[in-house]
Amino acid sequence: MAPRSFLDVLVLVLALAALSHRAKAGRSFFVFGDSLVDNGNNNYLATTARADAYPYGIDFPTHRPTGRFSNGLNIPDYLSKQLGSEFLLPYLSPELNGRRLLDGANFASAGIGILNDTGIQFINIIRMFRQLEYFEEYQKRVAALIGAQKTTQLVNGALVLVTVGGNDFVNNYYLVPFSARSRQYALPDYVKVLIVEYQKLLMRLHELGARRVLVTGTGPLGCVPAELAMRGSNGGQCSAELQRAAALYNPQLLQMIKGLNAQVGSNVFVAVNTQQMHNDFVSNPQAFGFETSKVACCGQGPYNGLGLCTGASNLCSNRDAYAFWDAFHPSQKANGMIVKQMLSGSTKYMYPMNLTTIFELDSRA
Ligand SMILES: *[C@@H]1O[C@H](CO)[C@@H](O)[C@H](O)[C@H]1NC(C)=O
Ligand SMILES: *[C@@H]1O[C@H](CO)[C@@H](O)[C@H](O)[C@H]1NC(C)=O
Repeated sequence: MAPRSFLDVLVLVLALAALSHRAKAGRSFFVFGDSLVDNGNNNYLATTARADAYPYGIDFPTHRPTGRFSNGLNIPDYLSKQLGSEFLLPYLSPELNGRRLLDGANFASAGIGILNDTGIQFINIIRMFRQLEYFEEYQKRVAALIGAQKTTQLVNGALVLVTVGGNDFVNNYYLVPFSARSRQYALPDYVKVLIVEYQKLLMRLHELGARRVLVTGTGPLGCVPAELAMRGSNGGQCSAELQRAAALYNPQLLQMIKGLNAQVGSNVFVAVNTQQMHNDFVSNPQAFGFETSKVACCGQGPYNGLGLCTGASNLCSNRDAYAFWDAFHPSQKANGMIVKQMLSGSTKYMYPMNLTTIFELDSRA
């Protein structure tokens, strides 16, 4: 039926807006993975992989360090904004109780990888299998609050973000030259192992009730300031070896995700091409308002890429002009741009669809 009057159109528009609002508001959100998405779990652990001291958090609303590996907001924070929710609490936070549980939880832990032995040097961190165990425990806690059936609905209706894999290269295969792992596997074989293990983790997530899962690839691993400082031999060229790793891994991840969706019979998993998103900054930083995508805002040595970002490091004054906050992690500004691409990017960035489309589809479900 065609709308007959201006009033009908107005009512229709309002109804659609309310629907789309409903699809987002009150939707729970879960995050799994590494330091790119950790928002403070490692603060509660005895580990060296932490971001709980100045100048981390300098641009966060509280201007204090939180455990996020950013000068301010990270990718989950920008996604929470899109959902109209408060920022997620880390699962280990004692404040995550009662009604706050219904917003979801962040299980991520800096330093971890797909494989259990990635990041062993960080000792006490929450590996992927453990993050998934915590997710089960979380569901039991919520069921005690609102019942099993409503808990299943909450989990099925949630948005999920998984960001893991970079450390399996940087903090495992390439941790030291001639690492045990690199002697065990040639790079193409290692990538296959990672994809097989990652697939198991994603299937487990599906078994646990996840139905909308954003899966990020790795960034351009060889172009982060740490790699420019350590390996980029001539004039800030990206490390060819790490770029080769990312170039092998990301397309296979996409294929794996397509296969998983075919297997479960719906578009549960969405591949986020973070490599392309970052490559855009790296190849033309000025187009995105960055002065540099090579030099980190906080650090020391060439490209501010050596060692940790601490109170004793160089700290840039115009933090929005840097694509990288520290030697490995994007700045708040870059994180915001990545989430913008997640929302409205073409299928080159978001496969098979972007978040706007997901919100629209789910509002009709
Ligand atoms: C990691 O460790 C857990 C617990 O020991 C085990 O269940 C899991 O299979 C391991 N994963 C891999 C990839 O080895
Ligand atoms: C993503 O989002 C925008 C806004 O809804 C939409 O117009 C566009 O077609 C989508 N991009 C794709 C699927 O390429």
